[in-house]
Amino acid sequence: MATVLSVSGSPSASSRTNRLLRHLDRRLTAQGHEVIPLDVRTVPAEALLGADFKHPAIVEVTELFERADGIVVGTPVYKASYSGVLKALLDLLPQYALLGKTVLPLATGGSTAHVLAIDYALRPVLSSMGAAHIVQGWFTLDKDITVQDDGSLSVAPAATEALTQVVDQFSTALGRRPVLAAAG
Ligand SMILES: Cc1cc2nc3c(=O)[nH]c(=O)nc-3n(C[C@H](O)[C@H](O)[C@H](O)COP(=O)(O)O)c2cc1C
Repeated sequence: MATVLSVSGSPSASSRTNRLLRHLDRRLTAQGHEVIPLDVRTVPAEALLGADFKHPAIVEVTELFERADGIVVGTPVYKASYSGVLKALLDLLPQYALLGKTVLPLATGGSTAHVLAIDYALRPVLSSMGAAHIVQGWFTLDKDITVQDDGSLSVAPAATEALTQVVDQFSTALGRRPVLAAAG
C-alpha cells in the first residue's frame, strides 16, 4: 500500500489537531498504509525561524516528504488561516515538495466562520507545491474533539462521519495513484 506522512501543524503541546490526526492515522494504518507521524512543533525552532534549509532536521523532514506517496496536512485555524509554524516549515521545503503526491487537508477551529480556511488559505499553497491531487478536506470544530479522562479521544458523531468519509476518499485516491514504470 502507500506511505503516508501525517503532518500536524499546531504549536500547542496539548493540540487537538495533533490528537485528531493521530486518531485518523490509526484508520489509515488499519487500511494497510504505512503512516509516519510528524508534529511540526518538534522541529527545532532555530531551524524554522532561522530559515535554516541545511539544518539536519529540515533535511530529514524533506526526505520524509520525498518518501511519502500521500500527505495528510492538519492545521488549527489561527487568525482565519493556517498556523504560522506550518507555513514556516512549508517555506523550507523544495518548491515542488508535493509533486505527484496525494494530499488530504484538515483543519480544526473554534468558529464555523472560518470553515473555508482550508480552501481559501491552505489549498492554494499545497497546489503551488505541486500536489497531484488534493482530495476533499474537512474542518472540525474544536468543541467536537474531546479528550476523555482515560486519555482516549472522542469526536462528535457528525464530525466522525465526515472525517471517516474524507479519510476513506484519501485512501482510495492513494490506491489509484499511477505507478511509474521502471526506467529501462
Ligand atoms: C492564536 C489563536 C488564534 C485562533 N484563531 C482562530 C480563528 O481565526 N478562527 C477559528 O475558527 N478559530 C481560531 N482559533 C481556535 C483554534 O483554531 C481551535 O481551538 C483549534 O482547534 C486549536 O487547535 P490546536 O489545539 O491543535 O492548536 C484560534 C486559536 C488560537 C490559539
